[in-house]
Order: sequence, then C-alpha cells, then structure tokens
Amino acid sequence: GALPGVVEGERPTLDQIRRELGDCRRCKLCTGRKNIVFGSGNPRAELVFVGEGPGENEDIQGVPFVGPAGDLLTKMIAAMGFSRNDVYICNVVKCRPPGNRNPEPDEIAACEPFLRAQLLALQPRAIVALGKFAAQTLLRDTTPITKMRGTWREYEGVQLMPTFHPAYLLRNNAEKRKAWEDLQQVMKLFGKQPGS
Ligand code: URA
Repeated sequence: GALPGVVEGERPTLDQIRRELGDCRRCKLCTGRKNIVFGSGNPRAELVFVGEGPGENEDIQGVPFVGPAGDLLTKMIAAMGFSRNDVYICNVVKCRPPGNRNPEPDEIAACEPFLRAQLLALQPRAIVALGKFAAQTLLRDTTPITKMRGTWREYEGVQLMPTFHPAYLLRNNAEKRKAWEDLQQVMKLFGKQPGS
C-alpha cells in the first residue's frame, strides 16, 4: 500500500498507522523534535480538524493544539456544540519545525502519507482544514486560503471545509467572523444550531 505494513485496499487502524510511524526519521524535523505529535481525540470521530504542525507546547506534550492556538481551537469546537473528545485533531506534519517556521515541501511530502492514512482510518463525515497547509496539502490546490475558505470541497469522498488557522485568528481578530461563518456551515451538516 501507500504505507509499508498497511495492506492495499484495507482500512488501517490509527494504532497500526502509529506503529508504522515508529520513531520516525523520514525527514529532517526528527532532529529537533522532542515528541512526535500523532493526533488526539475520538478514533470514531465524524469530524476531524487538520492543522499545520506542532508548536512548542505540542512538541513538549506530544498532543496537538494545546498552546494558545489550541485554546482558541478548543473554544471554536465548543462553540460548534462539540467537545475535543467528540472530534479528532491532527496535523500535516507530526514534528515541530524549528522555531515554528513553516513546514517545507520535503517535510510535508514525507508526512503526508500518514495524514492520508489517518483520514482513511477515521472515515469522517467532514474535515475542517485549518489554514493553508492543511487545505493546500489535502486538496493539492495552491489557491490562497483567503479564496478557498468558506466553500465546501471534496477530499476522497469526504466533505472538507477550508478555514483560517486559529493562530492566524489570534493575530487577526477581525477574521474570526469569517471563520465562524465557515464553522456554521459545518454545524449545519451535523444538524447543530448556533447558540444552542
Ligand atoms: N498549530 C498547529 O497547526 N497545530 C498544532 O498542533 C498547534 C498549533
């Protein structure tokens, strides 16, 4: 299959994918990381959030979205009527880029099969792509996130909503309104009402 040890045409489990990742040395991010940040949440989640890559707090704890951007994401998830235990959260790259620089193309390429395998394992009803790296990587579309956000896309038969990254929203408060519009479309898919 796309991943060694994962059989072609069979749906892998998250545990199998994590084992296959092992103590990963497939790209140069392995030299600076403290922990691989695989993903967290419900393995039966119907809603998955995909971010960019671990920051400092995530690298230390080995858990995605536990720093300031994570606090905002947790609030966004709650405002949608879910908890972090209902959903699954992961990233395009699973190791922290030095100084939180952007992930580089070779790093994304090395990690992408694992992200795709995770989504195959999860088979969610919807994916929220947080920021340009998640949206552009999954959709193989270089359109800027400002243009892509707010419109449903399709990823391997799954509805995908591109929106702004919470770290961007922390720096650009006025854009929260647009992100909330995007998330309300996701809520509608799940039959959730805003403010209830
Ligand atoms: N930003 C991300 O994209 N992912 C994390 O896990 C934390 C911050």
